[in-house]
Amino acid sequence: ICRGFSCSAVRNVVIKQLTIIGGGLMGAGIAQVAASTGHSVKLVDTSDDILKKSVKGIEGSLKRVVKKKFADKPEAGEEFIQKVLQNVSTSTDAGSAVQDSDLVLEAIVENLKIKQDLFGRLDKLAPAHTIFASNTSSLPISDIASSTSRLDRFGGLHFFNPVPMMKLVEVIATSATSQETFDSLLNFSKAMGKVPVSCKDTPGFLVNRLLVPYMMEAIRLHERGHGSKEDIDIAMKLGAGYPMGPFELADYVGLDTIKFIVDGWNAKDPGNPLFAQSELLNKLVAEGKCGKKTGEGFYK
Ligand code: NAI
Repeated sequence: ICRGFSCSAVRNVVIKQLTIIGGGLMGAGIAQVAASTGHSVKLVDTSDDILKKSVKGIEGSLKRVVKKKFADKPEAGEEFIQKVLQNVSTSTDAGSAVQDSDLVLEAIVENLKIKQDLFGRLDKLAPAHTIFASNTSSLPISDIASSTSRLDRFGGLHFFNPVPMMKLVEVIATSATSQETFDSLLNFSKAMGKVPVSCKDTPGFLVNRLLVPYMMEAIRLHERGHGSKEDIDIAMKLGAGYPMGPFELADYVGLDTIKFIVDGWNAKDPGNPLFAQSELLNKLVAEGKCGKKTGEGFYK
């Protein structure tokens, strides 16, 4: 069954060569793990300076991995690093980087229009069999895919920060994603040593859909004067067994990121109390207190 799309393109693609667009926090992390598991990675960003930093970051992270993994064999560790780095090449030209790719994975700025423009352009340049995927945290995959003519070969691959440490990948199918594409993305996640879960294209998929309203309710609980930040964090760590309390987690994720996600959901579903705004969160973000990355959020 071709569901109205070109039959020739519908096949199970084994992903060996991939192009990652965006060499920031997530893109570099995904590149590191993909290259470490034997995939050939082209990493694309807007400038050579950014790409140099990405590769330096990957090298630094690999050194930490190797220190543990090859503790008693430093030479084998160095060899492993060199082998992994050989699997990574960089480019500022996305159009030529996608030429022989099985998968184009996008991890650029969280902006629908910019993602649509990128994919719309690459759709005309990438081979027919190439699968497109976005690492977006909060935008509907189907909205991003709508700028292309390969809706059957478009899905979501949502990794977690820090990518080398976090085992989970959410694999997202839109209503148009073919079973072959979905299976290829699942198999690729497994080949990267990750554990995939299947998701529908719904706001926040599984993890963020539960985690963001939870953090927001912790903030509102505190705003109502029903508990201090410290006590709420201790309560969830010792009472629920969570490794971080909600305020510690919010500082780690970034308060601006949480606000951006909630505002987006709130705009689409204004009546939903789970997506209601918080004055305290708005104030901290307005003051530039975004959490760990700015040195201060709920905590210093
Ligand atoms: P980042 O800001 O660290 O990196 C984004 C990179 O994309 C930058 O290096 C930027 O120069 C580059 N870029 C922007 N526009 C580009 C373009 N048109 N072409 C090529 N490169 C371009 O952002 P981060 O945190 O890595 O996030 C990237 C994506 O991953 C976003 O969609 C975000 O929602 C998602 N995500 C983020 C997570 C996180 O914890 N930070 C977790 C899971 C998903």
